[in-house]
Amino acid sequence: PAPGWAIEADVVVVGSGVAGLTAALRCTAAGLRTVVVTKANLDDGSTRWAQGGIAAALGEGDTPEQHLDDTLVAGAGLCDERAVRALVTEGPDAVRRLIATGADFDKNADGEIALTREGGHHRRRIAHAGGDATGAEISRALVEAIRDRGVRTIEHALVLDLLTDAEGRTAGVTLHVMGEGQHDGVGAVHAPAVVLATGGMGQVFSATTNPAVSTGDGVALALRAGAEVSDLEFVQFHPTVLFLGAGSEGQQPLVSEAVRGEGAYLVDADGVRFMTGQHELAELAPRDIVAKAIMRRMQEQGTEHMYLDARHFGAEMWEQRFPTILAACRSHGIDPVTEPIPVAPAAHYASGGVRTDLRGRTTVPGLYACGEVACTGVHGANRLASNSLLEGLVFAERIADDITAAAPRVPGAPVPHPAPVTLPLPVGGARTRIQRIMTAGAGVLRSEASLREAAEALDALHGDALAGGTDDTKAAEPGVDSWETTNLLCVARVLVAAARRREETRGCHWREDHPDRDDRDWRRHLVVRLTPERN
Ligand code: SIN
Repeated sequence: PAPGWAIEADVVVVGSGVAGLTAALRCTAAGLRTVVVTKANLDDGSTRWAQGGIAAALGEGDTPEQHLDDTLVAGAGLCDERAVRALVTEGPDAVRRLIATGADFDKNADGEIALTREGGHHRRRIAHAGGDATGAEISRALVEAIRDRGVRTIEHALVLDLLTDAEGRTAGVTLHVMGEGQHDGVGAVHAPAVVLATGGMGQVFSATTNPAVSTGDGVALALRAGAEVSDLEFVQFHPTVLFLGAGSEGQQPLVSEAVRGEGAYLVDADGVRFMTGQHELAELAPRDIVAKAIMRRMQEQGTEHMYLDARHFGAEMWEQRFPTILAACRSHGIDPVTEPIPVAPAAHYASGGVRTDLRGRTTVPGLYACGEVACTGVHGANRLASNSLLEGLVFAERIADDITAAAPRVPGAPVPHPAPVTLPLPVGGARTRIQRIMTAGAGVLRSEASLREAAEALDALHGDALAGGTDDTKAAEPGVDSWETTNLLCVARVLVAAARRREETRGCHWREDHPDRDDRDWRRHLVVRLTPERN
Protein backbone atom coordinates (compact mmCIF):
# COMPACT_ATOMS: atom_id res chain seq x y z
CA PRO A 1 0.00 0.00 0.00
CA ALA A 2 1.28 3.47 -0.91
CA PRO A 3 1.34 6.04 1.92
CA GLY A 4 -1.42 8.66 1.53
CA TRP A 5 -0.09 11.07 4.17
CA ALA A 6 3.18 11.66 6.02
CA ILE A 7 4.38 13.38 9.16
CA GLU A 8 7.95 14.28 10.09
CA ALA A 9 9.73 13.45 13.33
CA ASP A 10 13.17 12.82 14.82
CA VAL A 11 12.14 9.49 16.26
CA VAL A 12 9.13 7.24 15.91
CA VAL A 13 8.41 4.76 18.68
CA VAL A 14 6.24 1.83 17.66
CA GLY A 15 4.40 0.43 20.67
CA SER A 16 3.24 1.82 23.98
CA GLY A 17 4.22 -0.58 26.75
CA VAL A 18 6.88 0.12 29.36
CA ALA A 19 9.66 0.03 26.75
CA GLY A 20 8.05 2.28 24.16
CA LEU A 21 6.73 4.91 26.54
CA THR A 22 9.98 5.07 28.54
CA ALA A 23 11.95 5.60 25.32
CA ALA A 24 9.45 8.21 24.12
CA LEU A 25 9.53 10.18 27.38
CA ARG A 26 13.32 10.26 27.47
CA CYS A 27 13.62 11.24 23.81
CA THR A 28 11.06 14.01 24.38
CA ALA A 29 12.93 15.22 27.46
CA ALA A 30 16.06 15.44 25.29
CA GLY A 31 14.21 17.75 22.90
CA LEU A 32 13.60 15.27 20.07
CA ARG A 33 10.39 15.45 18.04
CA THR A 34 8.94 12.12 19.12
CA VAL A 35 5.90 10.30 17.78
CA VAL A 36 4.44 7.21 19.46
CA VAL A 37 2.35 4.95 17.24
CA THR A 38 0.43 2.07 18.73
CA LYS A 39 -1.87 -0.57 17.33
CA ALA A 40 -4.79 -0.16 19.72
CA ASN A 41 -5.11 2.22 22.69
CA LEU A 42 -2.00 3.43 24.50
CA ASP A 43 -2.55 0.99 27.37
CA ASP A 44 -3.62 -2.09 25.41
CA GLY A 45 -0.29 -3.95 25.24
CA SER A 46 1.19 -6.66 27.45
CA THR A 47 2.58 -4.27 30.07
CA ARG A 48 -0.88 -3.64 31.48
CA TRP A 49 -1.32 -7.36 32.11
CA ALA A 50 1.91 -7.87 34.07
CA GLN A 51 1.03 -9.07 37.54
CA GLY A 52 3.96 -10.22 39.64
CA GLY A 53 6.14 -7.19 39.31
CA ILE A 54 9.51 -5.78 38.39
CA ALA A 55 12.74 -7.35 39.59
CA ALA A 56 15.59 -5.18 40.91
CA ALA A 57 18.16 -5.46 43.70
CA LEU A 58 16.41 -2.97 45.96
CA GLY A 59 16.20 -4.97 49.19
CA GLU A 60 18.59 -5.00 52.12
CA GLY A 61 21.39 -7.50 51.56
CA ASP A 62 20.56 -7.94 47.89
CA THR A 63 23.07 -6.91 45.23
CA PRO A 64 23.12 -6.59 41.44
CA GLU A 65 25.68 -9.42 41.47
CA GLN A 66 23.16 -11.81 43.06
CA HIS A 67 20.51 -10.71 40.59
CA LEU A 68 23.02 -11.35 37.80
CA ASP A 69 23.73 -14.88 39.11
CA ASP A 70 20.03 -15.82 39.18
CA THR A 71 19.49 -14.37 35.69
CA LEU A 72 22.41 -16.31 34.23
CA VAL A 73 21.25 -19.60 35.79
CA ALA A 74 17.72 -19.17 34.38
CA GLY A 75 19.17 -18.28 30.95
CA ALA A 76 20.75 -21.74 30.73
CA GLY A 77 24.11 -20.73 29.28
CA LEU A 78 22.88 -18.37 26.57
CA CYS A 79 22.69 -14.96 28.28
CA ASP A 80 25.04 -12.20 27.19
CA GLU A 81 26.66 -11.40 30.52
CA ARG A 82 27.40 -7.79 29.50
CA ALA A 83 23.71 -7.19 28.78
CA VAL A 84 22.68 -8.81 32.06
CA ARG A 85 25.22 -6.69 33.93
CA ALA A 86 23.73 -3.53 32.39
CA LEU A 87 20.25 -4.72 33.37
CA VAL A 88 20.99 -5.51 37.00
CA THR A 89 23.30 -2.57 37.75
CA GLU A 90 21.17 0.12 36.06
CA GLY A 91 17.90 -1.54 37.14
CA PRO A 92 17.50 -0.16 40.68
CA ASP A 93 17.93 3.47 39.59
CA ALA A 94 15.68 2.93 36.57
CA VAL A 95 12.94 1.72 38.97
CA ARG A 96 13.51 4.80 41.16
CA ARG A 97 13.11 7.01 38.06
CA LEU A 98 9.89 5.17 37.22
CA ILE A 99 8.63 5.97 40.71
CA ALA A 100 9.64 9.61 40.20
CA THR A 101 7.60 9.55 36.97
CA GLY A 102 4.56 8.64 39.06
CA ALA A 103 4.32 4.85 39.46
CA ASP A 104 3.14 3.98 42.94
CA PHE A 105 4.56 0.69 44.28
CA ASP A 106 3.29 -1.21 47.32
CA LYS A 107 5.11 -0.42 50.58
CA ASN A 108 5.81 -2.46 53.69
CA ALA A 109 5.01 -1.38 57.27
CA ASP A 110 8.25 0.67 57.38
CA GLY A 111 7.26 2.61 54.29
CA GLU A 112 9.84 0.88 52.08
CA ILE A 113 9.08 -0.78 48.75
CA ALA A 114 7.54 -4.19 49.52
CA LEU A 115 9.39 -7.02 47.76
CA THR A 116 8.21 -10.53 46.95
CA ARG A 117 9.82 -13.61 45.42
CA GLU A 118 9.24 -15.42 42.15
CA GLY A 119 10.69 -18.46 40.39
CA GLY A 120 14.48 -18.57 40.08
CA HIS A 121 15.11 -15.66 42.48
CA HIS A 122 17.06 -16.52 45.61
CA ARG A 123 15.94 -13.27 47.24
CA ARG A 124 12.87 -11.15 47.66
CA ARG A 125 13.45 -8.61 44.87
CA ILE A 126 10.16 -8.19 43.03
CA ALA A 127 8.53 -4.80 43.50
CA HIS A 128 4.77 -4.79 42.92
CA ALA A 129 1.84 -2.40 42.75
CA GLY A 130 -1.84 -2.73 43.56
CA GLY A 131 -1.03 -6.21 44.93
CA ASP A 132 -0.98 -8.06 41.62
CA ALA A 133 -1.65 -5.18 39.20
CA THR A 134 1.91 -3.96 38.71
CA GLY A 135 1.74 -3.56 34.95
CA ALA A 136 -1.53 -1.66 35.13
CA GLU A 137 0.01 0.86 37.52
CA ILE A 138 3.17 1.26 35.42
CA SER A 139 1.08 1.71 32.31
CA ARG A 140 -1.17 4.27 34.04
CA ALA A 141 1.80 6.32 35.23
CA LEU A 142 3.59 6.29 31.87
CA VAL A 143 0.47 7.06 29.81
CA GLU A 144 -0.30 9.96 32.15
CA ALA A 145 3.27 11.28 31.76
CA ILE A 146 3.05 10.98 27.97
CA ARG A 147 -0.17 13.01 27.99
CA ASP A 148 1.14 15.57 30.51
CA ARG A 149 4.25 16.17 28.43
CA GLY A 150 2.30 16.50 25.20
CA VAL A 151 4.07 13.67 23.37
CA ARG A 152 2.46 13.16 19.98
CA THR A 153 0.65 9.82 19.79
CA ILE A 154 -1.21 8.00 17.02
CA GLU A 155 -3.46 5.22 18.31
CA HIS A 156 -5.10 2.44 16.29
CA ALA A 157 -2.12 2.43 13.93
CA LEU A 158 -0.73 -0.89 12.73
CA VAL A 159 2.86 -0.53 11.60
CA LEU A 160 3.37 -2.10 8.20
CA ASP A 161 6.97 -1.74 7.11
CA LEU A 162 10.22 0.07 7.62
CA LEU A 163 11.16 2.86 5.21
CA THR A 164 14.81 3.11 4.30
CA ASP A 165 16.81 5.64 2.32
CA ALA A 166 19.09 5.01 -0.63
CA GLU A 167 21.93 3.92 1.71
CA GLY A 168 19.71 1.40 3.49
CA ARG A 169 19.37 3.57 6.59
CA THR A 170 16.13 3.86 8.49
CA ALA A 171 13.86 6.62 7.21
CA GLY A 172 10.60 5.91 9.07
CA VAL A 173 7.66 3.52 8.91
CA THR A 174 4.47 3.03 6.98
CA LEU A 175 1.28 2.65 9.00
CA HIS A 176 -2.32 1.71 8.59
CA VAL A 177 -4.41 3.92 10.83
CA MET A 178 -7.93 2.86 11.66
CA GLY A 179 -9.34 6.17 12.69
CA GLU A 180 -11.00 9.19 11.35
CA GLY A 181 -9.75 12.59 10.46
CA GLN A 182 -6.40 13.82 9.32
CA HIS A 183 -4.41 10.61 9.68
CA ASP A 184 -6.50 7.78 8.38
CA GLY A 185 -5.70 4.86 6.10
CA VAL A 186 -2.14 4.12 5.00
CA GLY A 187 0.39 6.81 5.81
CA ALA A 188 3.97 7.27 6.96
CA VAL A 189 5.99 8.77 9.77
CA HIS A 190 9.36 9.89 8.44
CA ALA A 191 12.16 9.73 11.00
CA PRO A 192 15.82 8.74 10.98
CA ALA A 193 15.33 6.64 14.11
CA VAL A 194 12.66 3.98 14.66
CA VAL A 195 12.24 2.19 17.97
CA LEU A 196 10.39 -1.10 17.74
CA ALA A 197 8.66 -1.73 21.07
CA THR A 198 5.80 -3.81 19.73
CA GLY A 199 5.84 -6.53 22.40
CA GLY A 200 5.56 -10.25 21.87
CA MET A 201 4.03 -12.89 19.66
CA GLY A 202 2.01 -15.04 22.06
CA GLN A 203 -0.94 -15.01 19.67
CA VAL A 204 0.99 -17.39 17.44
CA PHE A 205 -0.28 -20.12 19.84
CA SER A 206 -3.88 -21.02 20.62
CA ALA A 207 -3.66 -20.36 24.36
CA THR A 208 -1.52 -17.55 25.71
CA THR A 209 -1.37 -15.03 28.51
CA ASN A 210 -0.71 -12.32 25.89
CA PRO A 211 -3.40 -9.86 24.79
CA ALA A 212 -4.87 -9.97 21.29
CA VAL A 213 -2.44 -7.32 20.04
CA SER A 214 0.65 -9.56 20.53
CA THR A 215 0.95 -10.78 16.95
CA GLY A 216 4.71 -10.55 16.33
CA ASP A 217 4.41 -7.39 14.22
CA GLY A 218 7.82 -6.00 15.17
CA VAL A 219 9.73 -9.21 14.53
CA ALA A 220 7.97 -9.66 11.18
CA LEU A 221 8.71 -6.05 10.18
CA ALA A 222 12.36 -6.47 11.17
CA LEU A 223 12.66 -9.69 9.18
CA ARG A 224 11.15 -8.03 6.11
CA ALA A 225 13.58 -5.13 6.58
CA GLY A 226 16.54 -7.54 6.56
CA ALA A 227 17.39 -7.20 10.28
CA GLU A 228 18.78 -10.13 12.25
CA VAL A 229 16.49 -12.03 14.57
CA SER A 230 17.76 -14.45 17.19
CA ASP A 231 16.62 -17.13 19.70
CA LEU A 232 13.02 -17.37 18.43
CA GLU A 233 12.86 -21.03 19.51
CA PHE A 234 12.92 -19.95 23.17
CA VAL A 235 9.23 -19.39 23.85
CA GLN A 236 8.51 -19.29 27.54
CA PHE A 237 5.42 -21.15 28.70
CA HIS A 238 4.18 -19.80 32.03
CA PRO A 239 3.60 -22.74 34.36
CA THR A 240 0.48 -21.48 36.12
CA VAL A 241 -2.20 -20.17 33.81
CA LEU A 242 -5.82 -20.63 34.88
CA PHE A 243 -7.12 -23.74 33.12
CA LEU A 244 -10.40 -22.84 31.42
CA GLY A 245 -11.13 -26.20 29.82
CA ALA A 246 -9.60 -28.28 27.03
CA GLY A 247 -9.25 -26.36 23.76
CA SER A 248 -9.67 -22.89 25.29
CA GLU A 249 -8.26 -20.36 22.85
CA GLY A 250 -7.00 -16.78 23.02
CA GLN A 251 -5.82 -14.83 26.04
CA GLN A 252 -6.02 -16.85 29.29
CA PRO A 253 -5.81 -15.45 32.85
CA LEU A 254 -2.38 -15.61 34.47
CA VAL A 255 -1.92 -16.81 38.04
CA SER A 256 1.25 -14.96 38.97
CA GLU A 257 4.37 -16.68 40.24
CA ALA A 258 4.11 -14.24 43.11
CA VAL A 259 1.29 -16.47 44.42
CA ARG A 260 3.90 -19.22 44.76
CA GLY A 261 6.33 -16.59 46.04
CA GLU A 262 3.95 -16.01 48.94
CA GLY A 263 3.69 -19.72 49.70
CA ALA A 264 1.19 -21.45 47.38
CA TYR A 265 1.86 -25.13 46.53
CA LEU A 266 1.51 -27.05 43.32
CA VAL A 267 -0.35 -30.32 43.80
CA ASP A 268 -1.33 -33.08 41.40
CA ALA A 269 -4.70 -34.72 40.76
CA ASP A 270 -4.25 -36.73 44.00
CA GLY A 271 -3.49 -33.60 46.01
CA VAL A 272 0.22 -34.54 46.29
CA ARG A 273 2.88 -31.82 46.20
CA PHE A 274 5.28 -32.71 43.39
CA MET A 275 7.90 -29.91 43.14
CA THR A 276 9.67 -30.79 46.39
CA GLY A 277 12.57 -33.10 45.61
CA GLN A 278 12.74 -31.86 42.00
CA HIS A 279 14.67 -28.64 42.68
CA GLU A 280 16.14 -26.89 45.72
CA LEU A 281 13.69 -24.03 45.18
CA ALA A 282 10.68 -26.40 44.81
CA GLU A 283 7.70 -24.35 43.49
CA LEU A 284 10.06 -21.40 43.00
CA ALA A 285 12.42 -23.16 40.61
CA PRO A 286 12.98 -21.33 37.28
CA ARG A 287 9.78 -21.47 35.30
CA ASP A 288 10.98 -23.84 32.57
CA ILE A 289 11.64 -26.43 35.28
CA VAL A 290 8.23 -25.92 36.87
CA ALA A 291 6.46 -25.99 33.46
CA LYS A 292 8.23 -29.24 32.53
CA ALA A 293 7.41 -30.83 35.90
CA ILE A 294 3.75 -29.90 35.45
CA MET A 295 3.67 -31.31 31.91
CA ARG A 296 5.33 -34.56 33.04
CA ARG A 297 2.89 -35.03 35.90
CA MET A 298 -0.04 -34.29 33.56
CA GLN A 299 1.25 -36.98 31.18
CA GLU A 300 1.74 -39.48 34.02
CA GLN A 301 -1.72 -38.89 35.43
CA GLY A 302 -3.48 -38.44 32.08
CA THR A 303 -4.89 -35.06 33.14
CA GLU A 304 -5.03 -31.66 31.46
CA HIS A 305 -4.02 -29.57 34.42
CA MET A 306 -2.52 -29.55 37.90
CA TYR A 307 -3.63 -27.46 40.89
CA LEU A 308 -2.24 -24.46 42.71
CA ASP A 309 -3.29 -24.58 46.35
CA ALA A 310 -3.34 -21.30 48.26
CA ARG A 311 -6.37 -21.84 50.45
CA HIS A 312 -4.16 -21.24 53.49
CA PHE A 313 -3.77 -17.56 52.49
CA GLY A 314 -7.32 -16.94 53.73
CA ALA A 315 -9.83 -14.47 52.31
CA GLU A 316 -8.18 -11.30 53.64
CA MET A 317 -4.78 -11.99 52.13
CA TRP A 318 -6.33 -13.02 48.82
CA GLU A 319 -8.34 -9.81 48.69
CA GLN A 320 -5.45 -7.51 49.62
CA ARG A 321 -2.49 -9.13 47.94
CA PHE A 322 -3.98 -10.74 44.82
CA PRO A 323 -7.26 -8.94 44.01
CA THR A 324 -6.87 -9.25 40.23
CA ILE A 325 -6.25 -13.00 40.29
CA LEU A 326 -9.01 -13.54 42.84
CA ALA A 327 -11.49 -11.69 40.62
CA ALA A 328 -10.36 -13.56 37.48
CA CYS A 329 -10.72 -16.95 39.19
CA ARG A 330 -14.11 -16.09 40.65
CA SER A 331 -15.36 -14.84 37.29
CA HIS A 332 -14.63 -18.35 36.00
CA GLY A 333 -16.42 -20.03 38.90
CA ILE A 334 -13.34 -20.92 40.99
CA ASP A 335 -12.86 -19.59 44.50
CA PRO A 336 -9.15 -19.83 45.48
CA VAL A 337 -10.09 -19.14 49.11
CA THR A 338 -11.92 -22.44 49.35
CA GLU A 339 -10.57 -24.59 46.50
CA PRO A 340 -7.29 -25.23 44.66
CA ILE A 341 -6.93 -23.43 41.33
CA PRO A 342 -6.67 -25.61 38.18
CA VAL A 343 -3.58 -24.47 36.25
CA ALA A 344 -1.65 -25.51 33.13
CA PRO A 345 1.23 -23.98 31.15
CA ALA A 346 0.44 -21.56 28.29
CA ALA A 347 2.58 -19.44 25.94
CA HIS A 348 3.78 -16.38 27.83
CA TYR A 349 6.94 -14.70 26.60
CA ALA A 350 9.28 -14.63 23.61
CA SER A 351 12.79 -14.75 25.06
CA GLY A 352 14.24 -14.13 21.59
CA GLY A 353 13.45 -11.42 19.06
CA VAL A 354 15.15 -8.73 16.99
CA ARG A 355 18.85 -8.93 17.74
CA THR A 356 20.37 -5.80 19.29
CA ASP A 357 23.60 -4.60 20.76
CA LEU A 358 23.91 -3.09 24.23
CA ARG A 359 22.49 0.21 22.99
CA GLY A 360 19.41 -1.43 21.49
CA ARG A 361 20.66 -1.05 17.92
CA THR A 362 19.58 -3.69 15.43
CA THR A 363 21.62 -4.64 12.37
CA VAL A 364 19.73 -2.04 10.25
CA PRO A 365 21.18 1.45 10.87
CA GLY A 366 18.71 3.66 12.72
CA LEU A 367 16.39 0.77 13.68
CA TYR A 368 16.24 -0.03 17.40
CA ALA A 369 14.34 -2.72 19.30
CA CYS A 370 13.35 -2.73 22.95
CA GLY A 371 11.28 -4.86 25.32
CA GLU A 372 9.82 -8.23 24.38
CA VAL A 373 10.32 -7.67 20.63
CA ALA A 374 14.08 -7.44 21.20
CA CYS A 375 16.76 -10.00 21.84
CA THR A 376 19.25 -7.99 23.89
CA GLY A 377 20.89 -11.07 25.36
CA VAL A 378 19.53 -10.66 28.88
CA HIS A 379 17.20 -13.65 28.77
CA GLY A 380 19.25 -16.34 27.05
CA ALA A 381 17.26 -19.57 26.74
CA ASN A 382 14.76 -18.67 29.45
CA ARG A 383 13.82 -15.32 30.96
CA LEU A 384 13.99 -14.95 34.72
CA ALA A 385 10.63 -13.93 36.20
CA SER A 386 9.94 -10.18 36.32
CA ASN A 387 13.06 -9.25 34.37
CA SER A 388 10.97 -8.17 31.39
CA LEU A 389 9.55 -4.89 32.72
CA LEU A 390 13.05 -4.08 33.95
CA GLU A 391 14.59 -4.83 30.56
CA GLY A 392 12.02 -2.54 28.95
CA LEU A 393 12.99 0.29 31.29
CA VAL A 394 16.76 -0.06 31.22
CA PHE A 395 17.22 -0.62 27.50
CA ALA A 396 14.66 2.06 26.57
CA GLU A 397 16.82 4.56 28.45
CA ARG A 398 19.93 3.29 26.68
CA ILE A 399 18.21 3.60 23.29
CA ALA A 400 16.96 7.12 23.98
CA ASP A 401 20.48 8.16 24.97
CA ASP A 402 21.95 6.64 21.81
CA ILE A 403 19.40 8.36 19.57
CA THR A 404 19.95 11.66 21.36
CA ALA A 405 23.72 11.38 20.95
CA ALA A 406 23.31 10.76 17.20
CA ALA A 407 20.70 13.47 16.57
CA PRO A 408 20.14 15.25 14.37
CA ARG A 409 21.17 12.59 11.87
CA VAL A 410 21.24 13.92 8.32
CA PRO A 411 19.59 17.24 9.23
CA GLY A 412 17.03 18.38 6.72
CA ALA A 413 17.69 15.48 4.34
CA PRO A 414 14.65 14.58 2.25
CA VAL A 415 13.32 11.13 2.96
CA PRO A 416 12.89 9.13 -0.21
CA HIS A 417 9.85 6.89 -0.64
CA PRO A 418 10.84 3.34 -1.48
CA ALA A 419 8.52 1.18 -3.53
CA PRO A 420 5.63 0.12 -1.29
CA VAL A 421 5.87 -3.44 -0.08
CA THR A 422 3.14 -5.79 -1.19
CA LEU A 423 2.66 -8.55 1.32
CA PRO A 424 1.16 -11.89 0.36
CA LEU A 425 -2.09 -12.04 2.30
CA PRO A 426 -3.18 -15.27 3.98
CA VAL A 427 -6.35 -17.11 3.09
CA GLY A 428 -9.43 -16.70 5.27
CA GLY A 429 -9.29 -18.72 8.51
CA ALA A 430 -5.49 -18.89 8.42
CA ARG A 431 -5.00 -17.31 11.85
CA THR A 432 -6.78 -20.07 13.76
CA ARG A 433 -5.02 -22.67 11.66
CA ILE A 434 -1.59 -21.16 12.42
CA GLN A 435 -2.39 -21.12 16.15
CA ARG A 436 -3.51 -24.76 16.17
CA ILE A 437 -0.55 -25.89 14.06
CA MET A 438 1.87 -24.14 16.43
CA THR A 439 0.20 -25.48 19.57
CA ALA A 440 0.23 -29.04 18.26
CA GLY A 441 3.75 -28.97 16.80
CA ALA A 442 5.84 -26.31 18.52
CA GLY A 443 4.32 -26.03 22.00
CA VAL A 444 5.83 -27.01 25.34
CA LEU A 445 6.86 -30.45 23.99
CA ARG A 446 8.55 -30.59 20.60
CA SER A 447 10.18 -33.24 18.43
CA GLU A 448 11.48 -33.46 14.87
CA ALA A 449 8.24 -35.20 13.86
CA SER A 450 5.95 -32.59 15.42
CA LEU A 451 8.03 -29.69 14.11
CA ARG A 452 8.26 -31.13 10.59
CA GLU A 453 4.49 -31.49 10.48
CA ALA A 454 4.12 -27.88 11.66
CA ALA A 455 6.65 -26.61 9.10
CA GLU A 456 4.86 -28.38 6.25
CA ALA A 457 1.45 -27.08 7.27
CA LEU A 458 2.76 -23.51 7.61
CA ASP A 459 4.55 -23.73 4.25
CA ALA A 460 1.28 -24.82 2.67
CA LEU A 461 -0.47 -21.75 4.12
CA HIS A 462 2.33 -19.55 2.81
CA GLY A 463 2.03 -21.16 -0.62
CA ASP A 464 -1.72 -20.46 -0.64
CA ALA A 465 -1.02 -16.82 0.24
CA LEU A 466 1.53 -16.47 -2.57
CA ALA A 467 -0.95 -18.00 -4.99
CA GLY A 468 -3.60 -15.48 -3.94
CA GLY A 469 -5.85 -18.17 -2.46
CA THR A 470 -6.97 -21.70 -3.20
CA ASP A 471 -9.89 -23.14 -5.18
CA ASP A 472 -11.95 -23.12 -1.96
CA THR A 473 -10.68 -20.07 -0.11
CA LYS A 474 -9.82 -16.66 -1.45
CA ALA A 475 -6.94 -14.57 -0.10
CA ALA A 476 -8.07 -12.21 2.65
CA GLU A 477 -8.75 -8.55 1.92
CA PRO A 478 -5.97 -6.13 2.93
CA GLY A 479 -6.60 -4.84 6.46
CA VAL A 480 -5.42 -5.11 10.04
CA ASP A 481 -6.60 -8.67 10.52
CA SER A 482 -4.94 -10.01 7.39
CA TRP A 483 -1.70 -8.04 7.90
CA GLU A 484 -1.50 -9.35 11.48
CA THR A 485 -2.04 -12.87 10.19
CA THR A 486 0.73 -12.36 7.64
CA ASN A 487 2.99 -11.38 10.54
CA LEU A 488 1.93 -14.41 12.59
CA LEU A 489 2.67 -16.70 9.67
CA CYS A 490 6.07 -15.10 9.12
CA VAL A 491 7.22 -15.43 12.75
CA ALA A 492 5.70 -18.92 13.11
CA ARG A 493 7.73 -20.23 10.16
CA VAL A 494 10.98 -18.80 11.50
CA LEU A 495 10.24 -20.03 15.03
CA VAL A 496 9.56 -23.56 13.81
CA ALA A 497 12.68 -23.60 11.64
CA ALA A 498 14.82 -22.54 14.62
CA ALA A 499 13.17 -25.04 16.98
CA ARG A 500 13.73 -27.79 14.44
CA ARG A 501 17.36 -26.86 14.01
CA ARG A 502 18.18 -26.79 17.74
CA GLU A 503 18.58 -30.49 18.44
CA GLU A 504 18.83 -30.31 22.21
CA THR A 505 16.76 -29.38 25.23
CA ARG A 506 17.72 -26.07 26.82
CA GLY A 507 15.83 -23.52 28.91
CA CYS A 508 12.29 -23.27 27.66
CA HIS A 509 13.00 -25.23 24.44
CA TRP A 510 12.11 -28.86 25.18
CA ARG A 511 12.82 -31.48 22.52
CA GLU A 512 11.45 -34.91 23.43
CA ASP A 513 13.78 -36.53 20.87
CA HIS A 514 16.83 -34.65 22.24
CA PRO A 515 16.11 -34.56 25.97
CA ASP A 516 19.56 -33.37 27.14
CA ARG A 517 21.31 -30.05 27.09
CA ASP A 518 24.26 -30.21 24.69
CA ASP A 519 26.85 -27.61 25.66
CA ARG A 520 29.40 -28.99 23.21
CA ASP A 521 27.42 -28.25 20.03
CA TRP A 522 24.62 -25.94 21.09
CA ARG A 523 25.91 -23.31 23.46
CA ARG A 524 25.29 -20.82 20.69
CA HIS A 525 22.55 -18.75 19.14
CA LEU A 526 20.54 -19.31 16.01
CA VAL A 527 20.47 -16.03 14.10
CA VAL A 528 18.10 -15.56 11.16
CA ARG A 529 18.13 -12.92 8.46
CA LEU A 530 15.69 -13.23 5.58
CA THR A 531 16.80 -12.45 2.07
CA PRO A 532 14.21 -10.46 0.07
CA GLU A 533 13.11 -13.48 -2.00
CA ARG A 534 12.29 -15.41 1.21
CA ASN A 535 9.84 -12.72 2.30
C1 SIN B 1 4.05 -13.52 36.84
O1 SIN B 1 3.54 -12.64 37.52
O2 SIN B 1 4.09 -14.70 37.16
C2 SIN B 1 4.65 -13.14 35.53
C3 SIN B 1 5.92 -12.48 35.77
C4 SIN B 1 6.74 -12.51 34.53
O3 SIN B 1 6.34 -13.07 33.52
O4 SIN B 1 7.86 -12.01 34.60
